[in-house]
Amino acid sequence: MNVQDGINAAFSVLVSVFIVIVLVCLGWYLVWKLFLSRFKLVRELLGIAQSNEHTPVHSSSTGLVGKEYSAHAGGGAVNSALAAEGKTRQPSDHCDPSLKMNIRCAKPEDLMNMQHCNLLCLPENYQMKYYFYHGLTWPQLSYVAEDEKGNIVGYVLAKMEEPEPGEESTHGHITSLAVKRSYRRLGLAQKLMNQASKAMVECFNAHYVSLHVRKSNRAALNLYTNSLKFKILEIEPKYYADGEDAYSMRRDLSELAGGDPERPALEDGTDAGRDATIINNHRDAGHAGHDGHCC
Ligand SMILES: CC(C)(COP(=O)(O)OP(=O)(O)OC[C@H]1O[C@@H](n2cnc3c(N)ncnc32)[C@H](O)[C@@H]1OP(=O)(O)O)[C@@H](O)C(=O)NCCC(=O)NCCS
Repeated sequence: MNVQDGINAAFSVLVSVFIVIVLVCLGWYLVWKLFLSRFKLVRELLGIAQSNEHTPVHSSSTGLVGKEYSAHAGGGAVNSALAAEGKTRQPSDHCDPSLKMNIRCAKPEDLMNMQHCNLLCLPENYQMKYYFYHGLTWPQLSYVAEDEKGNIVGYVLAKMEEPEPGEESTHGHITSLAVKRSYRRLGLAQKLMNQASKAMVECFNAHYVSLHVRKSNRAALNLYTNSLKFKILEIEPKYYADGEDAYSMRRDLSELAGGDPERPALEDGTDAGRDATIINNHRDAGHAGHDGHCC
């Protein structure tokens, strides 16, 4: 074997090794994509967040909560159909409407249950540290809905954002909102949103609150446009990880700032007829809460 043969042999070995490495990587990538990434445990072991922490609403995880989310999606479709027919669904499938609900500012010990509720209801999920980031930075802004036994059945996770270029004031942003299926159509989401918005005004002088919502999310769109008077600002194409577009929406909060009599009923929690909700703004001893004097 001469030198040329030796070089050729070495080259062949290198190319073969390279091809094997590429094939192994490709194989693992496929196994990860098609199988392993669906398991929360595996993702947590590898320390992989379900969503990008800085643009959390973008991410999707159909694998993690696919079953429950498709159930929700199915419910949404039913509700959309009903909405299209001008009918409304009866409050909740399983929840006793006479149960008293409580809306209160979220405490650090609620964050795990908020995350659990989020996993049940939405494909956009977040690492625990992202909940803590919200809870520790803006403890006044996130709220939970709890049943009589103190179980968290809904939440709104909210934050403040820096002014947009050309703006002077800060504004609030809704990171995530969800209500467990059995507790829907009781007015909880509307109240959670109103409480968070009010806290944004009172604590941070927010002029408006923004959010993103999937174009297909009829329930949330109805809530935002009809009940909460959000306006669509623009469409953000392919905003979500699965390629769905988002509506970028805003609600002007000036009506909450000036004691406008037209502003949504927030203090008494009454909302004609269906309401057994107590809104509790007061701080529990030792817990951060929004009591109207937090700024
Ligand atoms: C969207 C969601 C938060 C609404 O929660 P909720 O507590 O049921 O909402 P409310 O009871 O406060 O509803 C207020 C209004 O919103 C609209 N709305 C709520 N759910 C609706 C539905 N399924 N279909 C049509 N309109 C709906 C209605 O106008 C309703 O008023 P009405 O009951 O007097 O008709 C809830 O369906 C949910 O958790 N969905 C999954 C998570 C999600 O999509 N979050 C929003 C992400 S942007």
